[in-house]
Amino acid sequence: MLILGIETSCDETSIAVLERTHDHFVVRSHFLASQVKTHAKYGGVVPEVAARMHLEVILPGLRAALKQARISLPDVDVIAVTAGPGLITSLLVGVETARTLAWSLNKPLVAVNHLEGHLYANWLPEKNRKTFVPQQPFPALGLLVSGGHTELVLVRNHGQYRLIGQTRDDAAGEVFDKVGKLLGLGYPGGPFVSQLAKRGNPTAIRFPRPMLNSPNLDFSFAGLKTSVRYFLDRHIIQPGNKPDVAASFQAAAVDVLVHKTLRALKRHNVRTLILAGGVSANSELRSGLAAAVAKRHPGVAFLKPNLEYCTDNAAMIAAAGYFHALKKEFTDWKTLDADPDWELGKLRESS
Ligand code: KG4
Ligand code: ZN
Repeated sequence: MLILGIETSCDETSIAVLERTHDHFVVRSHFLASQVKTHAKYGGVVPEVAARMHLEVILPGLRAALKQARISLPDVDVIAVTAGPGLITSLLVGVETARTLAWSLNKPLVAVNHLEGHLYANWLPEKNRKTFVPQQPFPALGLLVSGGHTELVLVRNHGQYRLIGQTRDDAAGEVFDKVGKLLGLGYPGGPFVSQLAKRGNPTAIRFPRPMLNSPNLDFSFAGLKTSVRYFLDRHIIQPGNKPDVAASFQAAAVDVLVHKTLRALKRHNVRTLILAGGVSANSELRSGLAAAVAKRHPGVAFLKPNLEYCTDNAAMIAAAGYFHALKKEFTDWKTLDADPDWELGKLRESS
């Protein structure tokens, strides 16, 4: 089966052709046009600019993805598109493209939740390799950490989600980005903070770990962000001290994420922990979770996405689309609509 994936929920235009052979996926092509350099000038994503840039590259991107995969449009079996959550202006470009293709080619269409897509990044192989996903990974716990979301989700089976914890204020990625800004680093801040942190001492400054000991599975990161800001206001920071600030902040954020995930694992009997979302690229989070799970829950398999599929991409959308297609969970092109607030596990507003 050949699945065409389309992702335009924020500031990356991505088109992928994913092939499902009898037991694994092959990414036949993966086109990705990032708008990061443009939005960096404004310090954040400008929705109108994002939509215009998606429009400019989506068709050339589609052509490039088909060419690289050595297929033509009629070869596609299923079209999978991100229908939400995200920026409405951005989402619409992908959704309208997918609807038009589904109508003109008479192909089935799958509406994929962007967060669900992130989970399925774990099913994607590294170049020229098969992925390791256990035959029966469910029930699983998902830790979704992106620029807009921080959630703990129980995954009972493909497509069956229950939210059991989430941030009460800022998302983890958002806080990494704000700390990056405070430290005068590049945009988005997450990768720069984690890079800088490699040279710093994580115990140099004791930043707070909000809600670490609260009995629920929710998160809060606003207090941590504020405390980094106060620290920077109160101290004259030499460039040589910035790595310590980055490393100490990162240690606090990772500590909270690991602790809450362990608490969820203690409460819920699962076979697998699935890390997902842009922040899953963070090496401290990856190694911290791996070590904690190996020590405290050695029977639980730990999945983390390959680095190239941690942040937004269409291959993960195609992978999620495949599992819906197996169950014939298609959406009519006539009724498909973008839903910027689509919560994982809930039926779409528009459906
Ligand atoms: O999933 P994603 O690409 O977009 C959303 O759906 O939001 O996540 C982007 C977020 C940004 O906040 C970015 O700074 C963060 O993921 N991120 C990282 C790293 N790489 C990306 N945060 C921490 N460490 C990283 N290495
Ligand atoms: Zn994302």
